[in-house]
Amino acid sequence: MTTGLPETIRDRFPLLEHAVYTNSCSQGALSDEVRAAYAQYLTDWDDKGAPWDLWVERAESTRARFARLLNATPDEIAVTTSVSAGVSSLLSGLRHPEGRNKIVISDFEFPTIGQITHAQELMGRKVEHVAAAPDATIPLERLAEAIDDETGLVCITYVSFRNGTKTDVKEVIRRAHEVGALVLVDAFQAVGAVPIDVRDLDVDFVAGGTLKYLLASAGLAFLYCRADLLPEITPTVTGWFADEDIFAMDIDDYSPSPTARKFESGTPPIPNIYAGIAGMDLMHEIGIEATERHVAGLTEQLVTGLDRIGATMVTPRDPNQRGPMIAVATTDEGAMVAALREDNILTSPRDGNVRLSFHCYNSEEDIERVIAGLEKHSDLLVR
Ligand SMILES: Cc1ncc(COP(=O)(O)O)c(C=O)c1O
Repeated sequence: MTTGLPETIRDRFPLLEHAVYTNSCSQGALSDEVRAAYAQYLTDWDDKGAPWDLWVERAESTRARFARLLNATPDEIAVTTSVSAGVSSLLSGLRHPEGRNKIVISDFEFPTIGQITHAQELMGRKVEHVAAAPDATIPLERLAEAIDDETGLVCITYVSFRNGTKTDVKEVIRRAHEVGALVLVDAFQAVGAVPIDVRDLDVDFVAGGTLKYLLASAGLAFLYCRADLLPEITPTVTGWFADEDIFAMDIDDYSPSPTARKFESGTPPIPNIYAGIAGMDLMHEIGIEATERHVAGLTEQLVTGLDRIGATMVTPRDPNQRGPMIAVATTDEGAMVAALREDNILTSPRDGNVRLSFHCYNSEEDIERVIAGLEKHSDLLVR
């Protein structure tokens, strides 16, 4: 684990030399290590031609790294190209017991979760939404009301991509299990920034990817499925890398892997796998717990600064209800993001707000620059 964040690691991210980067909720900054991993992919291609054995080995190392990250076993991990691909495969095979046709989702779900669950309506399921309260939380009591004995599956996002709100997913899982429902946690905005232990959470399924706080690329993701649930799920969204014996080249039947590999599809995203290994190894070295502590300090500093300049924070003030991202209300989020970009402060817009997200490499000076930038464009702030 690296101590002394962020000084010990900033020079590994060239982007930080010329920008204040507070957009890790969209994509983590590129490190020298990840750049070198892409170069290595090309070198191996040049040196070895079509090294399928190496590719399969790299894919398996990725699986092992995702497992380590979540405190899961490799057999519980599918290596996918996106959250969407893994969740689509999962839902295609999840049989809801008789009378449990309802899927509960929160209004903080990423569009892909809404779309994939509503697609299940074509299979006779119904979807119930739990709305956000004015304080930008999904109230646990409303979730508890919606999760009843007709519920087969609950989809809950850990940290909302809309406003940075962190939901007490452990409590949601406890409630769901009490009535016999399963839970899928979308952890994309949390993984790498918040330690995740599937055993401690007692969660059934978790999806996430490497693009944001795992410091790697688009096109690499995972789906965790608890081991004892695997035999019950037979996906119809599939492909040859989901087969029991990938290289049997068998076209006579469908015999999916007994492990979570059954949720995979075609040729693994090899370039992204090289990058993903480098990004995850870097995050492992830096330490996710150390990062969480460091970022908690930065977000506190930001909250104090927002109060000082009279800005309106949308994310809950309770530190337990937020992760690495804080959303600030604007009168025109596109204009605010563009104005900050002029000052070399990179952010992203969503739902009327500017999203400010922090990672291991952000510094106290970055926070002061962001506060000064928001104050400079205070005509675009909601007060
Ligand atoms: C919470 C969350 N879920 C899912 C996704 C999208 O996942 P994918 O494009 O891998 O399907 C994102 C991407 O921003 C996200 O923030």
